[in-house]
Amino acid sequence: MLLRKIRHQKSARYRILRERLTEPMHLNFAALAVALGGSLRARIDFDIVQRPHYAYGLLAAADQAAEQGLKAFTAVEFGVAAGEGLLNLCSIAKRVEQATGIAVKIAGFDSGCGMPPPIDYRDHPEEFQFGDFPMDHDRLRAQLPSNCQLVLGAVNQTVPNFLAHRLDAEAPLGFAAFDLDYYTSTREALALLADPDPSKYVFLPLLYFDDIVLPNYNGWAGELLAVHEFNHCHELRKIEAYRFLRSRRIMKNARWIDQIYLLHLFDHPRLKRRREIRTMPNVYF
Ligand SMILES: C[S@@+](CC[C@H](N)C(=O)[O-])C[C@H]1O[C@@H](n2cnc3c(N)ncnc32)[C@H](O)[C@@H]1O
Repeated sequence: MLLRKIRHQKSARYRILRERLTEPMHLNFAALAVALGGSLRARIDFDIVQRPHYAYGLLAAADQAAEQGLKAFTAVEFGVAAGEGLLNLCSIAKRVEQATGIAVKIAGFDSGCGMPPPIDYRDHPEEFQFGDFPMDHDRLRAQLPSNCQLVLGAVNQTVPNFLAHRLDAEAPLGFAAFDLDYYTSTREALALLADPDPSKYVFLPLLYFDDIVLPNYNGWAGELLAVHEFNHCHELRKIEAYRFLRSRRIMKNARWIDQIYLLHLFDHPRLKRRREIRTMPNVYF
């Protein structure tokens, strides 16, 4: 699948050339060895998966779920369109389940009939228009695994319903990818992060924002404006870019690293957890 994408998509080819060939050669050789027989974790560490941002987010959420003693977590994709991203999310989730033993419940949110009309300049009408990215529901549904539900309708209707009836502490939200393109749609989708019950979230849910990378994207429009408004409106919930993620990655040139954000829940039960008193070593004693 990754090879097919490289063969057919010029932008994917250029990005791989720009990002991979500018990495140190010894790392590219190591990546080749991992590609030939590495574990899923090693493949994710070396970015040898299609949509490495999905793979990284799913594995990091699974690790958190395991650490919190959970058996499952929820991952969502906002903006499904033809469904390539959602099917990719499902296939990586299956491999993450096998590698970690943590089950992944998946939901894909979409209008089902493409982009709604933009409201104003904040929706980047220079990039997107009414009717872009339609979906063939029947064809997509036929390919989705049983752990994935396609939630069709405007997100301002479907998200409150999902929060009330589908998201729970048994499989809290661990990873969410935002690819709704518009400011207004993203603002509505971010309601998913604002349920008053903090046990519906892992301690640090991972978020991916797709539409922040072009030079004309900025903090006064699009997804970034929606994030700023969310932070302004929620005293105990803050979305912030994952600072220093780049320093934790082996392949440091990947663009997706700057698209990973974290949801900080200052009302999460984890903040009330008390451990034994720790001591610091002192080599001078
Ligand atoms: C760029 S496409 C998503 C592409 C997909 N993530 C992928 O990687 O294959 C954006 C999608 O967001 C959906 N969308 C935008 N605003 C929406 C809204 N308010 N409610 C539901 N869906 C919406 C559109 O239907 C469109 O299919």
